[in-house]
Order: sequence, then structure tokens, then C-alpha cells
Amino acid sequence: MNPSVLIFDSGVGGLSILSEIRQLLPGLSLHYLMDSAAFPYGLKADDVLMQRIPEVCVQAVRELQPQILVIACNTASTLALPLLRQQLDIPVVGVVPAIKTAAAQAGGGRIGLLATPATINRPYVDQLQQDFAAGCELSRFGSSKLVEWAENYLADGHCPDGLYGHLAPWLNATDAPAHVVLGCTHFPLLRAELSRLWPEVRWIDSGAAIARRVATLSRNVPQDGGTLSCFWTGTQQPAPEAALKYLQNFGPVSRSGCLGADFLIQASESV
Ligand code: DGL
Repeated sequence: MNPSVLIFDSGVGGLSILSEIRQLLPGLSLHYLMDSAAFPYGLKADDVLMQRIPEVCVQAVRELQPQILVIACNTASTLALPLLRQQLDIPVVGVVPAIKTAAAQAGGGRIGLLATPATINRPYVDQLQQDFAAGCELSRFGSSKLVEWAENYLADGHCPDGLYGHLAPWLNATDAPAHVVLGCTHFPLLRAELSRLWPEVRWIDSGAAIARRVATLSRNVPQDGGTLSCFWTGTQQPAPEAALKYLQNFGPVSRSGCLGADFLIQASESV
């Protein structure tokens, strides 16, 4: 059996990370888990997330037995990584804003961070700025609207009506950053629209770096043959059609289902 990785997010955002991992390592089997019942994370209190994230991830790891867990969510990683690493005995890879890369590319001056309202205020981000971007000024923009729009965009492919008006006051200002970190895994899903509206901005995310990190941690990965599966939380939640369809771009989805209240995965074998 091919080695497997569990990729976790609140919603569809982590698919932007899954896509990078799949392209680099098609022999890894990938389980995608979205915490649909608690979505969105970016508007939740820290204490709620600190309880919720380990609860869901530890149970899912127990059920699915992956070799690596990827927390494909900046909001979750910037808060709960130490706790998850304490509770799990497999490598836990976190996705955090690529401030170091942006600072290196910008070489000083103003850089931007576009992330959820929760992430932009995290001490973790202050630390990243202090450690890797001391010579830069970090301009932060928190948006949960963009998270919602990315979910819709994956489903219907229509550029969100309010996208330009939402970001224009920030990105069209005279002191606007030319390098902007997409510090939420949902946002790379909107990259084509963002690049079309602001072609002069360098949009920076962590996807490719995370895939390389997973490659470093993986052992004995075959050239191909990795399977794909998709799970979500909340027995009342509808099946995430857009996520399932997106995954099918990479191959058949062999297993899908709900991580129920009793945390037993009620999965069905499907194609
Ligand atoms: N995709 C998540 C992140 O990277 C957050 C989305 C949410 O607010 O649930 O931050």
C-alpha cells in the first residue's frame, strides 16, 4: 500500500495545498478532511479552535492512520501546531504565512499579508515578522469575505462581484504593498482573479514549499498510484460536491464520507 498523508482544513482551502503535493508526489495516497461543521475558522475564538482542532485531527489520524498530517490552514497552524505535535506521534506539517519568502523577494519596504481576521492578529505572525521581515513594514488585511468567496468560486467559477471593491482601498492606495502573502489556503484558489485585477502585485503562498517539506518527510513513495479520498465533519452537512469534483481532476476519489459525531468515519467506496 502507498504511504498516505492526511491534509486538513476547515473547508476547501487546503485543496490548494493538496494540489501542490499531488503534482510533486503522485505516488502518495492523499486523504482530504474538511471541518465543515465548524467552518469558518477565521471568525472563531481561539479557545474554541484550541479544543476543536486537536479533537478532530486526533480522531481522524486514529481512523485513517496516515504517515504525515498536514494542517493546510493558516488559522489553525498559527494557533494549534504545538498542541497537535504534543498529541500525535506522526510528523505534523503546518502551513503558515510565507512572510519570510515575501520579505526576501521584496528586499525591504512594504509587504502585505492577506489572511483571515484570526490569523492577522496572531502572536505567531508577529514572531514571523520579527524573525524574517524585520527590515520590512508588514501591512495586514483580514478578510473572511474572501474565504466565503473562494468556497463559492470553487463551486461556480464566477469572479466574486465584490472582490475588486473589497480589496481596492488596500491594494490601490499610494503605499500599497507590491508583494502580498496569501496567508489563508483558500486564497490561492482565487489567484487567477486576483492576478487579473492586480497584475502588478506578486502573490506569494506556501503551497510549493509545503509539498517539498512533505517530500522530505516521506519514505518509500512509489512513482504513482496514490489514491484520493475526501472526508468532512457534520452529519447534517451536504456532501462537498465542489471539493469532490476538484479532487477528481487528479484521479478517481476512492473513498468519501462524514467524520460523524461519534467520530467514526461513515465512508462509502465510490469512484
Ligand atoms: N483556509 C483557512 C486558512 O488557511 C481558513 C478558512 C476559515 O476561515 O475557515 O486560514
